[in-house]
Amino acid sequence: MTTANAKKIHIREVAPRDGFQSWPEFVPTDKKLEVIKLLIEAGVTEMETTSFVSPKAIPQMRDAAEVMGGVPRKGCVHSPLVPNLKGAQLAFSSGADKVIVVISTTDAHNLANVRRTIKESLTDLQSIFQLAKDLGKPVMGAMAVAFGCPYQGDVPEEDVYRLAEAYIKGGASSIDLADTTGMATPTRILKLLKGFTARFPETPYSLHLHNNRGTAMANLYAALEAGATIFDAALGGIGGCPNVPQAAGNLPTEDVVFMLEDMGFDTGIDLMKIIKTARHFESILGKTLPGQVMKGGPRDPKMAAAVCGIDHQI
Ligand code: COA
Ligand code: ZN
Repeated sequence: MTTANAKKIHIREVAPRDGFQSWPEFVPTDKKLEVIKLLIEAGVTEMETTSFVSPKAIPQMRDAAEVMGGVPRKGCVHSPLVPNLKGAQLAFSSGADKVIVVISTTDAHNLANVRRTIKESLTDLQSIFQLAKDLGKPVMGAMAVAFGCPYQGDVPEEDVYRLAEAYIKGGASSIDLADTTGMATPTRILKLLKGFTARFPETPYSLHLHNNRGTAMANLYAALEAGATIFDAALGGIGGCPNVPQAAGNLPTEDVVFMLEDMGFDTGIDLMKIIKTARHFESILGKTLPGQVMKGGPRDPKMAAAVCGIDHQI
């Protein structure tokens, strides 16, 4: 379906971080590495490989250094999430290519997530930027709850732009606008992206869309229409912030690849391989995952039969 001059869409795979952090049981390190390897083989070129956070806060991520030590390095940008300077130091000394700093757009969520006010997190930010600069590595600024906060509700757009400005002035190479709570709707996506791109026309941005209220794919479509070209997605659609009540998954990578490739975009990810990986992932985790295309299969009946065992005989 994809043609040589198809518009490229870059997918940032977040299951190894956003997915495993929220999985009720600790996923063994060798299983994490197995999935990461398969994701790269399917064509994933950037991922949130893990996070360097307090093991007391998020025990599921306690093997971050081992994960970073075991991943294939070729062809993939490994960008773990970090909440503070200590996390950035550990991430870079474990071989991170880039770090994702996370600060929420509301004090209420930032306090719940990292036990700091936004102002306190921003103080740490300067030393993270300095460290990254010294090492010649990029930093992405992630803005949690940008489209709605589980504690505060609506988030004034000016608060989102203020945090974005702090990131960009500090030297962030890109910004991640996160709908951590799945509270966005297409109209809100269009409105915020319009304001964001008008203020920061030179800054690359990505969308991180959760499906708590069933709007994630519609939100992705709205963002595409607004010109977005970078999206976060998680294999099988797992994921969720531990500090969001009733957190639900991310956009499933295989569903995003299916839809975008059929629409003529080039994701660089092989649909059959990513479906197979999602199905294998489900067997590793031992639970049915939210992804739909790994159940329904690709459009071609023969391929659907081959990859999902679907019988199309009439
Ligand atoms: N990586 C590993 N350990 C860390 C750490 C990091 N990035 N930051 C702090 N720690 C350790 C400290 O060394 C200290 O260890 P000790 O008790 O053995 O001395 C302990 O954690 C507490 O440190 P402190 O700075 O007081 O942190 P805190 O208790 O105020 O917690 C955070 C703040 C940010 C470290 C913690 O809330 C956190 O890791 N949050 C991450 C939340 C998250 O990942 N959410 C989902 C993604 S959006
Ligand atoms: Zn998330």
